[in-house]
Formats: sequence, C-alpha cells, structure tokens
Amino acid sequence: MKFFIDTANLEQIKEAQDLGILDGVTTNPSLMAKEGIAGKEAINKHYVDICNIVDGDVSAEVLSTTYEEMIKEGEELAALHERIVVKIPMIKDGIKALKYFSDKGIKTNCTLVFSAGQALLAAKAGATYVSPFLGRLDDISVDGIELIQEIRIIYDNYLFDTQILAASIRNPMHIINCAKIGADVITSPLPSILNLLKHPLTDSGLAQFVADAKKMN
Ligand code: E4P
Repeated sequence: MKFFIDTANLEQIKEAQDLGILDGVTTNPSLMAKEGIAGKEAINKHYVDICNIVDGDVSAEVLSTTYEEMIKEGEELAALHERIVVKIPMIKDGIKALKYFSDKGIKTNCTLVFSAGQALLAAKAGATYVSPFLGRLDDISVDGIELIQEIRIIYDNYLFDTQILAASIRNPMHIINCAKIGADVITSPLPSILNLLKHPLTDSGLAQFVADAKKMN
C-alpha cells in the first residue's frame, strides 16, 4: 500500500519524506489556503516546491468547475512538473475532463467521491486515482470503509487500473482498515501516520533494554 501525505505544509512533507515511507502528496484548495498560499504564481511555485521534496505523485486540484476551464487549468498544472497529478472533482464536466486527460496520458485524481457509482464512473473515464472520502462519510454516520470495500470489489471484477486512494483519513485505525481491505493508497495527515508507531509495550520494553544496556558497560 502506498502512503501519501495529505497536506500542503512543506515542513511536514519533508518530515514524512525523511522517514523514507512517503510515496506521494495530496493537496486541496483548503489545505493550500491553510498555508496562506494565494494567487496563481504563489500556488504554482508551491506545487513545484512540493514536487522537489517528494519522490512521487503530487495531486494539484483545479479550482474551476467547467470542462473548458478545468482542461486549461489542468494542462497548466501538469506542465509545472512531471510528478503533478491533476485533481478533478466528481462532477459531470469532471468526468469529461478525466477522459480528456486520460487520453492525453496525463495522470488524474478524481476527488470528492462518496459512492460506488461515482467510483465506477471515474474508472470508466480512465482516472489514475479515485479518492473516496472515508472520514467525511464516517462524520455523517455512513461507513466509509464499507464504501472502499465496494469499490475494491467493482474494480477487481473488471480489472480497472484506477487506484483506490483512500482520503479524508482521521486516525491510524482508518489506515489499518484500508490496508486490510486492499486500498491501493492512503492519504493522511502526518499525525495519523506517526501514531502508527506508538505502542506502550514498545516504550516500556525499550526503557527496560536501555536500563539493562547501562549495566553491560
Ligand atoms: C483528499 O485528497 C483530500 O485532500 C482530503 O483527504 C480531505 O480530507 P478532510 O476530509 O480531512 O478534509
């Protein structure tokens, strides 16, 4: 399973890259705004900065919602760096844009996916990644993991190449459950990834080993 980090924060991206487990980055307009990135020039520069840190795919989301504008914006984004994946919303014009970019060999990530039907359409349009939003479904008492399971079955039935990129991850159990059911990728904030490290028996065991090691000197 690939690990992407879901942030536009360069320090966190560097930290995850230094860990040696990072396969890519996803961003969205809210994450960019959180970092105070505004204006086309600054946005484009920020994407290039991210691409220069991470050795993997970097999702950059279009801000427009019509077919023509998404194509123009997506082509500009894709031209910024070879690692850029054009992130397109799950809307009717978005499906057309996914097909356009797929035909041109430009990688895409279909975002804001909340149903198996939407995921099926994204795969039919040739999306590289489909992003079901696990946490946002859980927030409204709908089982997000169940959706990812459904998408896995559908994609396996028809051998779709589209990779399931489980998004809106909120905790380490989301990551573990995604791994159990065969999501291809998770994209997560750094704290949930780092929380996978933690176990009290590791801490107490290490404290004991360190104490005993001192007796051996
Ligand atoms: C996915 O690509 C999105 O950027 C992200 O995972 C959304 O997460 P949120 O629901 O925590 O905002």
